Amino acid sequence: MPRLPLRFAILATALTLPAAAIALPEGEGRDMVEAICTACHATNLIERSSGYTRDEWQFLSATMIDLSDDPALEDEILDYLAAQFPPGNNRAATPADGPLQIHVEEWMVPTLGQRSRDPVEAPDGSIWWVGQWLDILGRLDPDTGEMEEFDLPAGARPHSVNIGPDGAAWYTGNRNATMGRFDPDSGEITEFPMPDEAARDPHTAEFAADGMLWFTLQQSNMIGRLDPETGAVDLVTSPRERSRPYGLKVAEDGTIWVSCNGANCLLRIDPHTMSVTEIPLPEEGTTVRRLDLDADGIIWWVNSGLGRLGRYDPATGDIQEWASPSGPHSHPYAIAVFDGAVWYNESGVRPDMLVRFDPESEDFQSWPIASGPVHAGILRHMRTTLGGEALLIHQSGTNHIARVTIERDGLTQ
Ligand code: HEC
Repeated sequence: MPRLPLRFAILATALTLPAAAIALPEGEGRDMVEAICTACHATNLIERSSGYTRDEWQFLSATMIDLSDDPALEDEILDYLAAQFPPGNNRAATPADGPLQIHVEEWMVPTLGQRSRDPVEAPDGSIWWVGQWLDILGRLDPDTGEMEEFDLPAGARPHSVNIGPDGAAWYTGNRNATMGRFDPDSGEITEFPMPDEAARDPHTAEFAADGMLWFTLQQSNMIGRLDPETGAVDLVTSPRERSRPYGLKVAEDGTIWVSCNGANCLLRIDPHTMSVTEIPLPEEGTTVRRLDLDADGIIWWVNSGLGRLGRYDPATGDIQEWASPSGPHSHPYAIAVFDGAVWYNESGVRPDMLVRFDPESEDFQSWPIASGPVHAGILRHMRTTLGGEALLIHQSGTNHIARVTIERDGLTQ
């Protein structure tokens, strides 16, 4: 048997995984794929992939599990995958051509199959991420490529990370109902448990200018505020049932904006009173993973449910939407205002596309997001670097994190 990651056994039992509901097609090697490749996820991810050549399947598998110790087993698995799932047009994207050139630098994080995500830049230029499935907090030095991984409390299942004004890495403990602080100098971890047992799943967080750490709790239907000075946590429930508060951003004036992943709404939270106002979005079927604000205070949001990009002007209440290039099933997911444009990704198609929308010309341009030689995985959250000169992205399937810059006149900016 191949050497499995140390935490493999724990992972396999701790995650409530959907069983491999649909059997894979007959063929030699199927049993091995079902035995080895379902430790972290069901086989539907294989069936929903775009399909790959044998070499690509080898690269892709090696971002999740090291089979090199057992070449016979690896051959059996790769021969099966290559025969049954060759390159195809499954969920094909519709690229949007355009004139802009981008430059992408990528890194593969050390521990395989961790579901690396949510890279964020610290003031010293290092890039932090979390490995959600394996309770990992990671730090990359983008100049040297050096990476370090730190163990978070078992079962925390960190969903996201932010660097605080104190220089610490603050993560959301999505499965153990905590917010956590990791001190990079001492390695010490401090956990802040939720004060209410209905508050189960801290999700996405952002610091406000006054130092408060705001966060969403998706399944709990709440928004929380942690005071890092006192450790006090305050919670408020969304007025809309099962709205599933997801993305969160802080406006210039301190207002907290939240997107609803379970309903057609945005939420506005008063930072002082914590009162929540619902902004209904026009169409049934609309669900919004994430949102961002531009320099004019306009809110840009992804209509994940209907495959669109949305704009909301809080001053006028005006709402506008545009169909995403890959259509209604493109499932736009992460979003960030970067370099004067709106960037998001189409996670429902293969390849996962990075899309740029120019608010002035209303033109779209898109690029497939690569992980080395393959296109696989999902971008789930993206943020710019602190100076706004680069966009930090990731692919949770292939253990990759990446930095995107714009090429201007042959120079990378
Ligand atoms: C140690 C954990 C782990 C193991 C073992 C594992 N995977 Fe994965 N795999 C992941 C993670 C994490 C993702 C991303 C899931 C997500 O983002 O929700 C993923 C996603 C995928 C995807 C979807 C990629 C896409 O385009 O979205 C495919 C295909 C896949 N895995 C194939 C395999 C195959 C084939 C094997 C066995 C050789 C395997 N996996 C074993 C962790 C693992």
